[in-house]
Amino acid sequence: MSLMTLVRNAISESHNEIEETAFSVAMMDGSMGKEDYARGLSQLRQIHFSLECAIRDSTIASPFFRGEMVRTATIDRDLHSLGLSRYSFTLLPQTTTIIDQITRWGITEQAALLGCLYVLEGSRMGSLVIAKPLAKTLGLAAGSVAGIEYHTEGGAQTPMRVRQLKEQLDQAQFDDATKDALKNGAVVFMRLLNALYAVLPVGSTEKPATAGKCPFSHGGSQAHNHLNNHSQLKSA
Ligand code: HEM
Repeated sequence: MSLMTLVRNAISESHNEIEETAFSVAMMDGSMGKEDYARGLSQLRQIHFSLECAIRDSTIASPFFRGEMVRTATIDRDLHSLGLSRYSFTLLPQTTTIIDQITRWGITEQAALLGCLYVLEGSRMGSLVIAKPLAKTLGLAAGSVAGIEYHTEGGAQTPMRVRQLKEQLDQAQFDDATKDALKNGAVVFMRLLNALYAVLPVGSTEKPATAGKCPFSHGGSQAHNHLNNHSQLKSA
């Protein structure tokens, strides 16, 4: 059996579990609200960011990483479209645990980062089915993807991109220890993501913390532009 078939099988139970969390179900069944969705997305934003940084610095993982796999800017855009930002929510302890684990892997077990990359890229297969019901539950205008680009971006290429990543990982001349580390990375990452998804609130009445809002936000109904605001600050 190929390495990536083994990895896929190894996370299969965890995948069923994450699909059944209230957060996943709410994206599919029309009960997800904007703030709850944005809270979850803001946690994923920091996870993607730490993985992107760790992979960039990794000799083992960086050759498999392509520009289309960078998701941080897309998530920032989505949060913006939803009228929020990554500063709107505090990081949950479960997110911090994942980020700490990624950082440790970046130092001691870089092949595990490839397991995480596979999980996040593989999750884009799920995005192909999530996008439509999510757009509806968030009340987006027909045809609009503003706020759900995390699920729609590069969608047409997703099956090919995921297949190619898996083929490249299968064809790499990894030794057994590296293969084990990759598989363990995917399994542990899925377990930690499940722990996060399990605590993501759905149907909460809690508003985003004002104290956590972007310090550069100028508030009001006008959407703020981080890049402009930050560069204005720099040139001030
Ligand atoms: C509403 C939630 C979800 C749904 C409906 C969903 C659905 C799907 C579907 C339809 C596939 C393709 C199955 C196939 O090719 O046989 C898939 C694959 C996959 N999903 Fe999910 N998914 C969800 C959440 C997640 C999450 C949260 C993750 C992890 C962050 C994830 C990771 C994966 C992975 C790694 C694959 C395997 C890709 C492959 O090896 O081809 N999924 N999912």
